Amino acid sequence: MDWWRTAVVYQVYPRSFADSDGNGIGDLEGVRAHVDHLVALGVDAVWLSPFYPSALADGGYDIDDYRDVAPELGTLADFDAMTEALHAHGIKVVVDIVPNHTSDRHRWFPAALAAGRGSDERDRYVFREGKGPDGAEPPTDWESDFGGSAWTRVEDGQWYLHLFAPEQPDLNWDRRDVREEFLTTLRFWADRGVDGFRVDVANLLVKDLTEPLPDRAALRTLTDGNHPYEDRDAVQEVYAEWRALFDTYDPPRMAVAEAWVPAHRRARYASPQGLGQAFNFDLLTAPWAPGAWRDVITENLDLAAESGSTSTWVLSNHDVIRHPTRYGITAAAGQPNEIGYIPAFGVDPSITVDEDLGARRARAATLLMLALPGSAYVYQGEELGLFEVADIPAEQRQDPTFFRTGGQRLGRDGCRVPLPWTSEPPSFGFSPADASAPPHLPQPAWFGGFSVEREAGDDASSLSLYRAALRLRRALTRGEGLTWEASAPEVLHVVRQGGWHVLTNFGAEPAAVPAGEVVLTSAPLVDGQVPADTTVWVRA
Ligand code: GLC
Repeated sequence: MDWWRTAVVYQVYPRSFADSDGNGIGDLEGVRAHVDHLVALGVDAVWLSPFYPSALADGGYDIDDYRDVAPELGTLADFDAMTEALHAHGIKVVVDIVPNHTSDRHRWFPAALAAGRGSDERDRYVFREGKGPDGAEPPTDWESDFGGSAWTRVEDGQWYLHLFAPEQPDLNWDRRDVREEFLTTLRFWADRGVDGFRVDVANLLVKDLTEPLPDRAALRTLTDGNHPYEDRDAVQEVYAEWRALFDTYDPPRMAVAEAWVPAHRRARYASPQGLGQAFNFDLLTAPWAPGAWRDVITENLDLAAESGSTSTWVLSNHDVIRHPTRYGITAAAGQPNEIGYIPAFGVDPSITVDEDLGARRARAATLLMLALPGSAYVYQGEELGLFEVADIPAEQRQDPTFFRTGGQRLGRDGCRVPLPWTSEPPSFGFSPADASAPPHLPQPAWFGGFSVEREAGDDASSLSLYRAALRLRRALTRGEGLTWEASAPEVLHVVRQGGWHVLTNFGAEPAAVPAGEVVLTSAPLVDGQVPADTTVWVRA
């Protein structure tokens, strides 16, 4: 069976994982030095967010050179050493590919600016004339994902499209040389022994910018392949070509699409003729309620079967509020939006977080998620039960979302704070004791209580729960289906092949434990029953 179908994939955000050389920035040698943590945790694969040369206009998703390592993170030799160390323990390596845009420092962009209007070089990106008498207005009123206009004007008066930050110009995927360049990059990493690729905003690459272009309001009404840049059918031609390349390797390289598309469009990306797997982010936006969870689970298992893939499950990643915080946010604040933000979180003081409740629900959610058929993606620090860090001073923030919305959206720095390895300040073991610079985002004092060192010695810790869950999951997983047992309305009870019962109580009334041996609980049973906001695993 293909390894990725049931894999637990651990996401490393390299700049915040572990700093081996004391410059305050995590690096590849830091990953290599902590392989023991990943082995003890029991993950099947590691996915590394971008570690390529970058000016960090968007946390490394603005790439200067796709076939090198950022000097502050190491060298290609460090990458090889890290891969070798992971492979020695049977842990696969997945790298992040960002094909929608380069950075404005990639060799192609200065060349496009220099070569001028109408040039071949400029055609690799999306340049247009502006509107108005002297072209001083952007070609459309489209907004960038991070706020502000999606167009920036260059010296000679033309405008270029950037669906994200201005430092991330969108590429023109109609061009053969753009396609060839990425095939070369994929080959480069696959030849180095990389086992798979996470494909950034996989739904945006192919565009049809034929005039007249719809305005922002009209964009929202366009779906299912009719949108000028979102989820166009022709984007699958790109991935069919990638798949052909991946299948020349033994074993074939895997790929997972990051594509925020409606559920019914996801199977295209997950098809075996395409990338093969697609992220299902539905749990990120689902409320903590049994009906919502059941719908998400049922729909995604159906979709996975339809595409011939397996589902992916995600509760946290580098773009969203960490789930113990999300589940503790006061109900009045509402649900996260489509990318998992609570719009006014951290900005509106009336939004409070009940951390005990959030942590309890996060543990219950995690045990339910890890029991589902398919692949689970776990984000670094989630195994420690870390909360979002909300109080990063404005001058230390890095996310363009914060700056481009004038602080109206806090952005994603709060889930990217360097990990605590020990309980010792100043950096909680993130950097060596004689470091020359502090961690690149400030760690709060409470991080010491969540360190790997402390939690490893505590049976009740989040780390102990994750370790036990991953070990048991490996032993208990059979097949790729599940059945639902009848249960009270506030309870979900699923059964996996081989007699693995998983019961989550979302309600206040205690629920009966399924018959069999209780092998794991997210919180202690009370009087032999499953209390509120608790998941139990039972072997029948
Ligand atoms: C994806 C990444 C996000 C990045 C964006 C632009 O959504 O996960 O971190 O900002 O793409 O590359």
